[in-house]
Amino acid sequence: MGFKSVAIDGPSGAGKSTLARQVAQAMGYLYVDTGAIYRTLGLAVLRAGIAPEDTVGVVDLLGRISIDLGHGDDGLQHMYLDGEDVSSAIREPEVSKCASGVSAIPAVRAFLMDMQRNLARRQNVIMDGRDIGTVVLPDADVKIFLTASPEARARRRWDELHARGTKVDYETVLRDIVARDERDIHRDTAPLRQAEDAVAVDTTDIGLEESFQRLLNVVQKGVGA
Ligand code: DC
Repeated sequence: MGFKSVAIDGPSGAGKSTLARQVAQAMGYLYVDTGAIYRTLGLAVLRAGIAPEDTVGVVDLLGRISIDLGHGDDGLQHMYLDGEDVSSAIREPEVSKCASGVSAIPAVRAFLMDMQRNLARRQNVIMDGRDIGTVVLPDADVKIFLTASPEARARRRWDELHARGTKVDYETVLRDIVARDERDIHRDTAPLRQAEDAVAVDTTDIGLEESFQRLLNVVQKGVGA
């Protein structure tokens, strides 16, 4: 019997990572945050002083660095850039921008696709991103499209950054989120969109606990648990 896979896609700040992690834990599945992979490349590009739109420069760099993903005993995903644990560094706002830029390059997406598919071949996974249900795992057992209004998402992102001690104002976070949505939705390769067979869940007006219950329900039904 093959392994089960759950794809959760949606814009930044809809609660994907928190909810996917919780549902993965409840199901005993491995949680894979694919945005973290793009962020790691974004950090490498930033550190190398390469412009994210410099396709040739980014692809060249991709061949010279190593990006690895590992899971600790706690089930948390860690990202490694040339062996260095960059799990925290990749959360900074300038890395978000750069990750969004490099993720629009088709060769980058193709390169990082194998890494994502290989993970789903070896165990039951819940994978979150932008194109998991549409491109990476089109045969996923369950597909969920998680959304929320830009304002609700900006508020949550600001809370998260604030808790981590990153000083940034709400208006800037909202502006960044709207700009990132624009880029992710309108890019030519693997744009952010809801798969036809995905279940849409809007978390604008519901809290974390209710969102979790709804998602868990959809997942349990979908995998026949
Ligand atoms: O989910 P996130 O904010 O950590 O993602 C960072 C960037 O990576 C985001 O701007 C879009 C991109 N991304 C993508 O293009 N495809 C994915 N599967 C995941 C993320």
